[in-house]
Amino acid sequence: MTGEAAATRGRILRFAPALLAWYEAEGRKDLPWQRDRTPYRVWVSEIMLQQTQVGTAAAYYERFMARFPQLRDLAAAQLDEVLHLWAGLGYYARARNLQRAARILLQRHRGEFPATLEEVMALPGIGRSTAGAILALSRGERHPILDGNVRRVLARYFAIDGYPGDAAVERRLWTLAAACTPHSRVDEYTQGIMDLGATICTRANPACLLCPVNSACEARRNDAQRLYPAPKPRKARPQRAAWLVLARRGSKVLLERRPPSGIWGGLWGLPEFPTREHAAQWCREHLAGSSALQPEEPLRHAFSHFDYDIKPLAVRCAGKAPSLRDDDRYRWYDVDDPAEVGIPKPIVTLLQR
Ligand code: ADE
Repeated sequence: MTGEAAATRGRILRFAPALLAWYEAEGRKDLPWQRDRTPYRVWVSEIMLQQTQVGTAAAYYERFMARFPQLRDLAAAQLDEVLHLWAGLGYYARARNLQRAARILLQRHRGEFPATLEEVMALPGIGRSTAGAILALSRGERHPILDGNVRRVLARYFAIDGYPGDAAVERRLWTLAAACTPHSRVDEYTQGIMDLGATICTRANPACLLCPVNSACEARRNDAQRLYPAPKPRKARPQRAAWLVLARRGSKVLLERRPPSGIWGGLWGLPEFPTREHAAQWCREHLAGSSALQPEEPLRHAFSHFDYDIKPLAVRCAGKAPSLRDDDRYRWYDVDDPAEVGIPKPIVTLLQR
C-alpha cells in the first residue's frame, strides 16, 4: 500500500466511530420523522428535506402525515389536496412524484417498500442517495448516501479535488461514502453524517472546532476547507475579435454608424472588419493615398456574454476620401470639437489615446 492509500485507509477507519460518538451526544433524535420510522414516513421526510431546511419542514411534515398517515391514504388522495398541503415548500414536482410513487407502490408492491435499492431507485423522484437514506434510516440496511451535505463533508475530509458533478469525482466520492459506512448502527450513522454536513461542516463557515472528525480531516490539516468541494468549472467566455480602422485626418477621425441591431446598435463606432485583410482591402478602396495600416495596442471590452477583443489599425489619411462624405453612415468626427453623438465608451477611450 502506498503512503497515501494507507492514510486514506486510516481516515476511513476513524470516520464512523467518531461520527457515531458525536451523534450519540449531539445529534438530533426527536424530529417528527424519527418517531415510528416506517419506510413511508422516512420517505416523505427525505423528499421534504431535499430542498427544505429541517426547521421549516417539521410543521409541513406533521400536517402532511396527519392527513396521509398511511401510504394508501396518499395514493388515494386527489393531487390537488397533496399539492395544497405542499404549498409553500416549492419544487412541486416532489409532491407529484410522491403521489405517483405511492400509487405505483400500492399497485405493484402491495403498498410495501420494495426490498432492493434498485427497485426503490426506480420510483419517481427517488435517486440513489435518497433510496439509500430511506432504507438505512427505516430498516437499518447498509447503503451509502451522498447528498449535497455529505458530498461536502467527504470532499473536505479526504481532500478530493475536482467538481463533484464530474463523473470521475462523483464515483470516487461514492466509493469513499460506501467505505465509511459502518456495518452496524447504519441508521444513526446516516442521520449523523447528514447532521454533520447541515450543522457543522457548512458551506461558508465550517465550525471545525466542534467537528468530531477534525483531527483526521485533510482539508483542515491544510487549512483549505474553502477549496472543497471545488465549484463547477466556469465555461471559458466566448471571444469575439474585430479589427477597427482608426482613420485620422488632422484632428478628425472617421466614424461609421453601426447597424441598428447587434452590439452598440445605432451608435457611432469605427469601421469594423472580421480580419486584417478585409480592413486593408477596404482602406485601399476608400482611403486612397493614405499611409500603411499601423496596429495599435488591443483593447478588450467585456459584454455580459462574451469578450470583445478590439484590434485597432491606425491609418493617416492625406485627403478627404470622397466616397465617404459626412452623411448618415460616415462622418469625420473632430476630436478637438466633438459633435454630440452617441459613441460607445471603449471607442471614446480609443479616440482619446
Ligand atoms: N436532509 C436530507 N435528509 C435529512 C435528514 N434526515 N436530516 C437532516 N437533513 C436532511
